[in-house]
Amino acid sequence: MPHHLLICTGPSCRQEGAEEMLAALHLFLCDASLQAYTRLTLCCCLGQCGRGPNMVVYPDGTWYGGVDTRAALQIVRGHLLEGKVVTALVQVPE
Ligand code: FES
Repeated sequence: MPHHLLICTGPSCRQEGAEEMLAALHLFLCDASLQAYTRLTLCCCLGQCGRGPNMVVYPDGTWYGGVDTRAALQIVRGHLLEGKVVTALVQVPE
């Protein structure tokens, strides 16, 4: 199933490593042959500063927080490939 990922690269999330995570995410998507099925949109701020790096996965509308490189890999494998929400990383927006 195609997915659309909103990824925050705003100041707070950048400070927490969003750019490094994003670079790794591209590699993970290619390794999993998901690049043609995954759309990425970078956002200036998702309104959850201090809980980042933040990501929202659609069509589910699942919010993830603290998405570092390791977490991004978990999301690719668990959510995108297996269709299972990675509950340990879910963040309910405030
Ligand atoms: S900078 Fe990422 S949520 Fe605000």
